[in-house]
Amino acid sequence: MAERKPLISGNWKMHHTHLEAIRVVQKLSYALKDTDYEAADVSVHPAFTALRAIQTLIDADRLSIILGAQHCHWEPKGAFTGEVSPTMLAALQVTYVIAGHSERRELFGETDEVVNLKVKAILANGMTPIMCVGETLDEREAGDTDAKVSGQVKAGLEGLTAEQVGGMVVAYEPIWAIGTGRNATPDDAQATIASIRGAVANVAGADAAATVRIQYGGSVKPANAAEILAQPDIDGALVGGASLDPDEFAPIVQAAPRRG
Ligand code: 13P
Repeated sequence: MAERKPLISGNWKMHHTHLEAIRVVQKLSYALKDTDYEAADVSVHPAFTALRAIQTLIDADRLSIILGAQHCHWEPKGAFTGEVSPTMLAALQVTYVIAGHSERRELFGETDEVVNLKVKAILANGMTPIMCVGETLDEREAGDTDAKVSGQVKAGLEGLTAEQVGGMVVAYEPIWAIGTGRNATPDDAQATIASIRGAVANVAGADAAATVRIQYGGSVKPANAAEILAQPDIDGALVGGASLDPDEFAPIVQAAPRRG
């Protein structure tokens, strides 16, 4: 089976000024040891205003924490007031960019077509997309979870090569589990993520499906992280609320299964 190193990502959403972000990353870096980074890749996704500060900190202190962003436009530049381009993020040594988070889809009108444009632009700039998919509570209760997420996978990956897909990250975030304290049971998350992997295989082939990393997100906490991360198809976590505090985020990173 393909080796898929878990990726534990902290999506800070609209939290932490750049000064707070610096303190959080410093504290997180004291808590994490080399063995933790051997078991998992760790990314933080601050607001745009904190990216430069965190890039400088990571660089100066040679931290193993990886810099991520939460969003970008798909054009390299232009008259798009308020937007940030993938070129700008790449220049800040951003590695991972979240695309299609449910909050962007629901609150800011991002469609599958927009998500696809963003995924392509992120890849074209040498960064790795974390493409989010997930169902609402109504869709879940109607038994439409697999149809919803596989539709999002198909549309979001349209026009990519198998190699591009195999190197990216997909995050399964059931919308009803985000910020609610309700998480999918590990078995449920495993089943849906296995079905997402099947959808990836349908659009990009078995090799891409074997290497694409698929995270779970939605109320991941220190208390439930180990059981979620132990599932065979779950390759990490996209963590919101619990990633804001290093005392909570570090134990989640440390819950990633140890290999060897
Ligand atoms: P919570 O961990 O706060 O539920 O947020 C999940 C999320 O949306 C991460 O992107």
